[in-house]
Amino acid sequence: MAKLQSLEVVDAGSSACARAPLGLLAELTHRCPLQCPYCSNPLEMDRADAELTTAEWRDVMRQAGELGILQLHLSGGEPAVRQDLEEILEAAVQAGLYTNLITSGVTLTRERLASLAKLGLDHVQISIQDTDPANAERISGYKGGAGKKREVARWVKEFGLPLTINVVVHRHNIENLPALIDYAVEVGAGRIEIAHTQYYAWALRNFAALIPTREQFYASVRTTNEAKERLKGILVFDVVAHDHYAVRPKPCMGGWGRNFIVVTPSGKVLPCHACETIPALEIDNVRQRPLADIWLNGGAFQAFRGTAWMKEPCRSCERREIDWGGCRCQALAMTGDASNADPACALSPRHKDFALLAERESHKPSPPFVYRRMSGIQSDAPSGSAMTAPPKA
Ligand code: SF4
Ligand code: FES
Repeated sequence: MAKLQSLEVVDAGSSACARAPLGLLAELTHRCPLQCPYCSNPLEMDRADAELTTAEWRDVMRQAGELGILQLHLSGGEPAVRQDLEEILEAAVQAGLYTNLITSGVTLTRERLASLAKLGLDHVQISIQDTDPANAERISGYKGGAGKKREVARWVKEFGLPLTINVVVHRHNIENLPALIDYAVEVGAGRIEIAHTQYYAWALRNFAALIPTREQFYASVRTTNEAKERLKGILVFDVVAHDHYAVRPKPCMGGWGRNFIVVTPSGKVLPCHACETIPALEIDNVRQRPLADIWLNGGAFQAFRGTAWMKEPCRSCERREIDWGGCRCQALAMTGDASNADPACALSPRHKDFALLAERESHKPSPPFVYRRMSGIQSDAPSGSAMTAPPKA
């Protein structure tokens, strides 16, 4: 914590945050062999030649340790496409961080996973798209992923690492939730993350193709609650709730500038994945400014930290320090002003329209996916090693 203590908090006021963040999400690269239409990466992704170098990422790890960060999530894109993942991990372990590799698994080999485990990797999270291989391929735009993911899960257990299965839930897999939960148990995961799609970036672009009906969502809640009871002591459930059928928002990122830092492949330091959509936010880069200084004093982190920025109804609401007004990026996308209440909140004047939009779109046939591609938005199905069939309605 030496760095944190030595830095001055500028313009503290009520928005200061004098404690260390809990977690750092290190997006090592935006490169990824999968093309999931709900990806949280921005529509305009960083190219390989813009990525931080090995030395720069190692320095980010050192700074994260000094800042007092506890957990490191090595993410992407697909973090394993970085050939220097081992060197970055080594720096993170030296910095005393708890390390979690978030991976699709499809590029990993047994040897590479063994070497990461030997270096001190603490945890692996594998994302799956569905239990039905053909549907998983259609969603991810990648052939042959399902068998490989099972194999990687087996290696994770072989090397004695804790395993989480992550599934992003939407209208094309929500009916298979019971099987997805069974899958997590079968492969020996201790935890499942059931992440109902959050609609920003690629998911917002694919809103109509992804949004489930209210009935489907409620059925998934019943399935999850029943499974939680049945699997007590076997599987831990982390659920990221669906916003459109909610009455109160969730505290996005645990509150703006309170718990998490995101570092993008090119070194931008963000309070959340999607905040680059917010106009005039002052975004710093680890290439120019120390991580601790950005966390404490950076313009983007100060913008919506605390409650001073809030308008009504949040300003006088008793939940303002529980959900922190919900998601700034969703407020911007759906109301045109990032300092409005998240429309997921029933107290927002935009809530009714927000819920009605979901009701309407979810009952129409699904349009084709707009697959995530480095080359930008394309509405055709992917080619090459990827899929050519359009999504089912
Ligand atoms: Fe949260 Fe604002 Fe809604 Fe209150 S009015 S519950 S603070 S989003
Ligand atoms: Fe940016 Fe929620 S995604 S605050």
